[in-house]
Amino acid sequence: MEKYIIEGGRRLEGSLQIQGSKNSALPILAATVVTGETSILRRCPDLRDTRAAMRILRHIGCAAERVGGQVIVRADTAKRYDIPGALMREMRSSILFLGALAAVFGRAEVSSPGGCAIGLRPIDIHLAALETLGVHITQQGGQWIAYAPGGITGGQVALPFPSVGATENVMLCAVRGKQRTQIRNAAREPEIRDLAQYLNACGADIRGAGSDTIVIEPVDPVRACEYTILPDRIAAATYMAAAAMTGGDIVLRDVTVQDLWPVLPFFEQSGCRVTTQGDTLRLRAPHVLQSPNPVRTMPYPGFPTDFQAAAMAMASVAQGTGVFVETIFESRFKHVPQLIRMGAHITVQNNVAVVQGVPVLHGAPVQATDLRAGAALVCAGLAARDVTEVQGIELVDRGYEKMEDHLISLGAGIRRIVQDAE
Ligand code: UD1
Repeated sequence: MEKYIIEGGRRLEGSLQIQGSKNSALPILAATVVTGETSILRRCPDLRDTRAAMRILRHIGCAAERVGGQVIVRADTAKRYDIPGALMREMRSSILFLGALAAVFGRAEVSSPGGCAIGLRPIDIHLAALETLGVHITQQGGQWIAYAPGGITGGQVALPFPSVGATENVMLCAVRGKQRTQIRNAAREPEIRDLAQYLNACGADIRGAGSDTIVIEPVDPVRACEYTILPDRIAAATYMAAAAMTGGDIVLRDVTVQDLWPVLPFFEQSGCRVTTQGDTLRLRAPHVLQSPNPVRTMPYPGFPTDFQAAAMAMASVAQGTGVFVETIFESRFKHVPQLIRMGAHITVQNNVAVVQGVPVLHGAPVQATDLRAGAALVCAGLAARDVTEVQGIELVDRGYEKMEDHLISLGAGIRRIVQDAE
């Protein structure tokens, strides 16, 4: 068990280099199997989830090692198509290996994936879409058994919802298809674009990624490649929220500004001044934050559900009333009772939270219930009066690289306590 002790009330100031994107790195690590070659992935964040993906790669028979900020994967030695339940349960993205292994071996055996407890998170869309590509999937004794006797056919996939993971699973499988695959109602997240760019760098022919229609031509991508992973837009937005809540002034380097467009109006409505130049972004917080317009989480380019919790922490110390509607996951308000322990005024009815801003939060012992909820509590703790203890920060480590080091470099009072070692 690990926790953060945060001495709140210090203004964040300075500059920060943004980590590579977790949600890009995970599908790209799964995609290395499909390329069957050596991949050098630069700016690959060192996170609990990327380490879990590397353990899966090694189990399959690949060589996967980290050298500084790079991960090097050699996939030509891959030989297994089964993944034990313990590895599958470490994260949600393990399900992407289903499409990847079926593409390479014509079969795969995996259990249901784990991941943050933010809702039911079924995989029905993944399974139905892979079936369309010629992969027969059955469930036996808690295992998903995928079998593509005639190889991956390819085909027309129409997703009932633009699921990020299902879009990625189809892409991973379809690059080894015999015919063209078209995905309609595809997810448009920047991480989908990044996965396509990586696969194209390996010789694939994928067009339209980032739009709602993606076309994957049947070309075996077998080239080795070096690729730099996209900067993490959610990590960037989280540090912006932390700075905004502490009256701070920070510069973020290595951001893809255009990928942050869905959240920039939120900061501007809150009274922050955001200026950008190339891949650098500066945020200057106002003296007092203002409540933003109602926030409704939506698939990209809508407001990201992954930033909803930190945005709500910000609204909890803004002047006025904020409204948050969560439309993507069923259980994504678990940070609310924790923020209330810190003095926030929030009421929830179904998927709507109403936040009545208070002038200041106060420190309290709180529990990170999932990755983004944990990040929101860290932001709240940085702004709060007195000391906040955030328990369960292993969840924060799933997605934020060296979070406390970054925050300390900006002037925060935060330290990690490893409780077993106390
Ligand atoms: C990805 C992101 C996660 C983000 C989410 C939504 C990664 C590693 N994770 O998760 O950080 O919060 O997108 O932007 O990239 N659904 C089904 N059936 C399915 C698949 C999804 O009903 O087969 C539902 C989910 O339960 C959820 C919604 O669709 O309610 C969105 O899920 P999806 O877009 O698939 O999210 P993930 O890929 O799991």
